[in-house]
Amino acid sequence: MELQLWRQILQPYALAVDELIVKMNHMKNEFEYAGEYSPIESVHGRVKKISSILEKAQRKQIELDDVENQLDDIAGVRIICRFVEDIDKVVELIRQRSDMTIVQEKDYIRGPKKSGYRSYHLIVKYTVQSLEGPKELNVEIQVRTLAMNFWATVEHSLQYKYKGNMPAHVKDKLLSSAEAIVTLDDEMSVVRKEILDAQNYYQHKTMVVSNILSNIENLYKVANKKEVLKIQDEFIAVYKEDNIKKIEHFGKELDIVAESYRAQRIV
Ligand code: GTP
Ligand code: MG
Repeated sequence: MELQLWRQILQPYALAVDELIVKMNHMKNEFEYAGEYSPIESVHGRVKKISSILEKAQRKQIELDDVENQLDDIAGVRIICRFVEDIDKVVELIRQRSDMTIVQEKDYIRGPKKSGYRSYHLIVKYTVQSLEGPKELNVEIQVRTLAMNFWATVEHSLQYKYKGNMPAHVKDKLLSSAEAIVTLDDEMSVVRKEILDAQNYYQHKTMVVSNILSNIENLYKVANKKEVLKIQDEFIAVYKEDNIKKIEHFGKELDIVAESYRAQRIV
């Protein structure tokens, strides 16, 4: 099939992703305008690249004419939450909507994958309007916490690096860090209850930790992996000490490191 035809096929998927990002962000805003805590922290989305679609179709032996029916992740939306409890809330919000229908659910939180991967996956049917009329398509929605997202991003980049031949010691490291992420999420759940009791101290700590996690995540894209792994281990050590001043200090230093990479890129 010609490239141009693929671009045309993907147009409605791009519209679906754009619309869903707007709608999910609007839900977040509705909570915030009401002065309520939002279970949605951030929303992201993408349309699968043509090269990835072709690669997956070949791997799964799917005829090119059948790709739209067989691949349910051409359009993908990811909703990030702060706390594990927020995930069920988000799923319920989606379930209640009349502009999409859930057709599949996979709970990799109560039943994580062998790799250690955790997330809640939904496939929804969603209709977009085009010049040719309405078109119903599948969208994959992944709902996960900041910490789960952090782990999945790191694991994905290592998978990419080792192309299916991940050494045992790296796998082990990922499995043990997946456990650490479960502990982190559990501890944050305790924090969540406190937040709902309106104690901003914990809200502040959550914010500081969230910033640190997203800084580390971004560093994986630009910095030397060994160096980032070292920073990550340092963070876990500081986090375990449970001293907010030290966590804050760590966060500020990391901001400077992150900023220097940003500056380098600009130059
Ligand atoms: P696919 O053939 O990948 O569609 O498998 P599936 O239909 O069984 O879907 P599943 O819900 O298991 O996973 C779909 C998506 O979840 C992937 O494209 C990834 O984005 C994510 N995912 C699943 N497993 C892992 C994992 O072990 N690590 C990471 N980083 N992401 C994963
Ligand atoms: Mg799938």
